[in-house]
Amino acid sequence: MSYFNAVARGSMKTVRFCSTLRDIVLLFGKILLTLLTSTFKELIVKRKKSLKDEVVLVTGAGKGLGKELALKFASEEAILVLWDIDEVKVQNVASDIRELGGCAHAYVCDVSDISKVHEVGARVLEEVGEVSIVVNNAGILQNVLFTDLDTNKIRKTLEVNLLSHFWVSKV
Ligand SMILES: NC(=O)c1ccc[n+]([C@@H]2O[C@H](COP(=O)([O-])OP(=O)(O)OC[C@H]3O[C@@H](n4cnc5c(N)ncnc54)[C@H](O)[C@@H]3O)[C@@H](O)[C@H]2O)c1
Repeated sequence: MSYFNAVARGSMKTVRFCSTLRDIVLLFGKILLTLLTSTFKELIVKRKKSLKDEVVLVTGAGKGLGKELALKFASEEAILVLWDIDEVKVQNVASDIRELGGCAHAYVCDVSDISKVHEVGARVLEEVGEVSIVVNNAGILQNVLFTDLDTNKIRKTLEVNLLSHFWVSKV
């Protein structure tokens, strides 16, 4: 009887050993698979989308973030359509882009004025073509306490920072 017990105990140990060995092999297999998949994704799948010849509209492109974004898009060979209420600044950004070898078209457009957005939008379509990427960047900051905002400032903030996104994106 003890002989059979010893044999049974031995085979239990063998089964446990085989099961541990299988788990270790599976673990290493999974690690290897994860490494291979992430390398594949990094090298092949996640290749950057080309922006070459995309027509990119940046609002509020005369200075600040809008200007920097416009320069970045231009460095990726996109065609820039720059809108701002400040004619001098927006023209200067367009000149900077052209001097760097890029392509930029500057327009004066108050994005809070729906009729202007339609008018300038139609000119862009005729002069540059269909816009493929829109960066609704133009925005204003009323540098006063919330409680000191008067009706006109509240209305203007909403028109520039919120409603314009609908006007520009729909045109
Ligand atoms: N700078 C920041 O730290 C920060 C943080 C969060 C969000 N933002 C947002 O990013 C955007 C840009 O910020 P910024 O700091 O570069 O601003 P900015 O004031 O430096 O530049 C804004 C540009 O938008 C133009 N503009 C203003 N009203 C316009 C209108 N009605 N139509 C067309 N152009 C108009 C201005 O002439 C200016 O050239 C804003 O929407 C702002 O709210 C900025």
